[in-house]
Amino acid sequence: MFLYKKIIKNGYVIQNSQPEHAKQLEGLQRKVFPTLSNSEIMTAAHYLKHIQVFPEGQFVVLDGEKVIGMSSTMRYHLSYEPHTFLEISDNLWIEGTHEPNGDWLYGLDVGVDPDYRSQGIAREIYRARQEVARHFGLKGQITVGMMNGYGKVEDEFTVEEYFDKLMNRDLIDPTVSAQQKLGFKIISLITDYLDDPTCGNAGVLMTMEATHEV
Ligand SMILES: CC(C)(COP(=O)(O)OP(=O)(O)OC[C@H]1O[C@@H](n2cnc3c(N)ncnc32)[C@H](O)[C@@H]1OP(=O)(O)O)[C@@H](O)C(=O)NCCC(=O)NCCS
Repeated sequence: MFLYKKIIKNGYVIQNSQPEHAKQLEGLQRKVFPTLSNSEIMTAAHYLKHIQVFPEGQFVVLDGEKVIGMSSTMRYHLSYEPHTFLEISDNLWIEGTHEPNGDWLYGLDVGVDPDYRSQGIAREIYRARQEVARHFGLKGQITVGMMNGYGKVEDEFTVEEYFDKLMNRDLIDPTVSAQQKLGFKIISLITDYLDDPTCGNAGVLMTMEATHEV
């Protein structure tokens, strides 16, 4: 089995998630996605299932014993069809949607504890995901980024207008702009991807080729 473990800045460690991290991962989910609907928050039980289904694709970042970063992924094919977060994740369990032979790595989330942001931790998580994609000979990563800056300007723009501005780089979004900076290319807008007012329920489908250096 391909196991990933790397010491990064400040002695933090990024590695594959283990069952003992599941409870803390649930706590970090709730902290990182405070406005996401409860039905879309991954719980400890979901994390235990992810580790069982696709252990190589599950990540934690640790400061000592404390979980400060996380990411859940699965294998899938590249599809431009609109879908929801719950559909693609098999209601967060991934068991029914993870394709053992899928040729892309679908990233379901990335989260970094607010107290540890802007230290390059998300960059390390996307790097680790690239390593997994390369190890399995995949074409790259897919993600659907949340336009987390939209809620602040929802009275001024529609979701579609905000998305057009992002495409033209006329505004900076806290999440999608960070993902663009890391090398993701925008494909399309998916309205009604999930249930979170801060992003107008919308997501941005993006891909990153496996050859890209994060
Ligand atoms: C988005 C998020 C994961 C970034 O984590 P982070 O560890 O602070 O990010 P990094 O420090 O690795 O930054 C990576 C790059 O993105 C840029 N970036 C980070 N936050 C940014 C922001 N708010 N606006 C614009 N760019 C940003 C950084 O400048 C950096 O580029 P650089 O190295 O060239 O300077 C974190 O803010 C988060 O957990 N947000 C809430 C959850 C979320 O929206 N997750 C993604 C959708 S599932």
